[in-house]
Amino acid sequence: MGSAAQRLLMKGFGVPSGLLGRLGGRLMAHGNAAAERRVVSLAAPSEEEVVLVVGPGPGVGLVAAARCSAHVIGVDPSYVMLAAARRRCASAIDGGRLRLALGTAADTGEPDASVDVVISVNNVQLWPDLPGAFAELHRVLRPGGRLFLSAHEKWLPTALPALAHTVRAAGFTDVRTWTWEPPGRAPSKAAQLGAVRV
Ligand SMILES: C[S@@+](CC[C@H](N)C(=O)[O-])C[C@H]1O[C@@H](n2cnc3c(N)ncnc32)[C@H](O)[C@@H]1O
Repeated sequence: MGSAAQRLLMKGFGVPSGLLGRLGGRLMAHGNAAAERRVVSLAAPSEEEVVLVVGPGPGVGLVAAARCSAHVIGVDPSYVMLAAARRRCASAIDGGRLRLALGTAADTGEPDASVDVVISVNNVQLWPDLPGAFAELHRVLRPGGRLFLSAHEKWLPTALPALAHTVRAAGFTDVRTWTWEPPGRAPSKAAQLGAVRV
């Protein structure tokens, strides 16, 4: 990112750091909560399933996933967001039902075929290597595992059909896309995608 404004946006919301990152985390925890919870409800993990949340930011989706699944892993490259998620998810972490780790979509650090569900909200626009990231998420999902993504439509890195094409090219099947209007005042329409790992 080149301009000063873009650098500030990255510090606040991209890979949050410093004071601006902490402020960005608070805003995201409020403004993106409905989308985080919506994606967890679409993925509908069962009590036996393991969920990987990519780029959880302040951790609202982690809390929702921990309520209905066996175990949740959150990977994020931001120390500030990992600290915020640790505070929000303290009871699930203490109960051994949730683990946080430094990582990215393209390098989660998780073993092959080890998770049942991958969810990621307002994140795909930050992945520098989309094919590499989807190959990694395919690698960590068990056969039959589900992938659910959501992002503000205006921030998508490519048009939704092109994103679906990239997901299919990584080996996913049953790729579906749609848009969703979050509740509330002046909501930003979300583009969402669901897919199944072959
Ligand atoms: C815009 S915030 C979204 C956070 C939260 N999911 C939400 O919707 O409120 C983006 C998050 O993704 C993380 N992130 C940035 N680049 C990433 C990457 N390549 N892989 C995974 N996460 C990334 C950031 O550190 C940050 O926590």
